[in-house]
Amino acid sequence: MKTILVLNGPNLNLLGTREPAVYGAHTLTNVEALCDAECAKFGFKMDFRQSNHEGVLIDAVQEAGRAQAAGSLIGIVFNAGAYTHTSVALHDAVKGSGVTVIELHISNVHAREAFRHHSFLSPVAKGVIAGFGVAGYALAISALAGMS
Ligand code: DQA
Repeated sequence: MKTILVLNGPNLNLLGTREPAVYGAHTLTNVEALCDAECAKFGFKMDFRQSNHEGVLIDAVQEAGRAQAAGSLIGIVFNAGAYTHTSVALHDAVKGSGVTVIELHISNVHAREAFRHHSFLSPVAKGVIAGFGVAGYALAISALAGMS
């Protein structure tokens, strides 16, 4: 059984209480359950992680790259939070590891502040999903399933 890594970056542990008008009322635990159900639909195992630390996310991306090369992982659904807009290191990690990434944002970042319009991940992502709320996680999993 192949795995999909759902990787969440900084402040996503605050889902449910953080700016509910932007991110909705769902908690990260709700998102994990939604992703688990979607992965099960396709017969995939899910690995669900969240970290507020850039280096931990980089380690996870590199580990995923090795797992994909070994044939045990399909790819990453990656909500890198604010690191999307700042992290050359995450760009390099995705590029260097060769892992398949679907970039995911709960909110429509392009309808928000200008500093959210640039992404260091988009140029190295297979695709981008933004603005569909937490339902975007299921869309991203289904996109990865379609590619596998
Ligand atoms: C986010 C959008 C980012 O701009 C923001 O920094 C986040 C969450 C989203 O899911 O909409 O932390 O990635």
